[in-house]
Amino acid sequence: MTEKDFIPSEYTKLVTKGGVTWKSPSNIALIKYWGKEANQIPANPSISFTLDTCATTTTVIYKKLENKAQDFSFDLFFEGSLKEDFKPKIQTFFKRIENYLPFLKSYHFKIETSNSFPHSSGIASSASGLSALALALMSLEKELNPEITQEYFIKKASFIARLGSGSAARSIEGDIVQWGNHKGTTNSSNLYAIKYPYEVHKSFKKYQDTILLVDKGQKEVSSTVGHNLMHNHPFAKERFKQAHENLDSLKDVFANGDLKKFIEIVESEALTLHAMMMTSLPYYILMKPNTLEIINKIWAFRQRTNKSVCFTLDAGANVHVLYPESEKEETLQFIKDELVAYCQNGQYICDQIGFGAEELKVRKE
Ligand code: DP6
Repeated sequence: MTEKDFIPSEYTKLVTKGGVTWKSPSNIALIKYWGKEANQIPANPSISFTLDTCATTTTVIYKKLENKAQDFSFDLFFEGSLKEDFKPKIQTFFKRIENYLPFLKSYHFKIETSNSFPHSSGIASSASGLSALALALMSLEKELNPEITQEYFIKKASFIARLGSGSAARSIEGDIVQWGNHKGTTNSSNLYAIKYPYEVHKSFKKYQDTILLVDKGQKEVSSTVGHNLMHNHPFAKERFKQAHENLDSLKDVFANGDLKKFIEIVESEALTLHAMMMTSLPYYILMKPNTLEIINKIWAFRQRTNKSVCFTLDAGANVHVLYPESEKEETLQFIKDELVAYCQNGQYICDQIGFGAEELKVRKE
């Protein structure tokens, strides 16, 4: 499919008002998206576990305007209060997607959004937030054109979410999701994410992710700035090639359940992501001393017990501790005994692989 396939023809129905609510999860990348071209085209393919507990719930209430407006018309409420400072991000998002959802200027939108995780936890909310909004807008498109298929709905929701935030493309479906052209993956695309299409060993069922909140402060360097620093980065070419190779290897790992190899790929990806930041110009470090303390504790625990616990990082100081469900009890004990001390205010979130976004209820107003 190409971009043109997402431009709708005339809508068949008139819809004057309505509302819809979607709950959309966050995701954690195993192979990282880091670097992009114009129009949110990723520099390399990525793959993630969809999460379950960490999610954004968004209600969009829409009302048709008498005449198409000059500009987008919307109010944004975050956790119950009007949020003017979030508006520019939505404005930019609407501008990027207007071509594909041409009804946007014909409605006034009331957008109410809230997260299941603490606002200032440092957890990226762009994946869950923008996927939830993309899905809500797609629900309106489906009302205007009831003919669209479920398959098209999902693809276009991911396509629209991607234009808001790259990683949001991977938050529509579960449980393992891939985004970006990859030779070894049939139907993979730079335009939208797909559900991982191959066999997955039972060891990965209900894989656990305990998120250790090391630093809840605002990130010093945003992901958008970080992605841009991959242009002219001295190691970019090799890094993009490595992501393709890691995806090839991960395909075998998913099929045969080789957790040792899984750990090697996932931890290497996390450290490579941060190595890219440290070797950008300007260079920067998002890990904190406690991030490293935790990594060392995890390595020592693994050495001692031969368990399959490992870590990954997103673009921040927090640590995602990944482990199979069969090792849940002893790993949680280890986390409580040895890792929680390094979390800000002792805070952590227990999550696991989830199965994607869900529509909660339709509210007509
Ligand atoms: C490190 O999706 O937040 O989490 O497309 O600019 O919104 P934008 O970037 P974003 O980048 C996520 C980067 C990452 C890795 C990943 O999720 O693959």
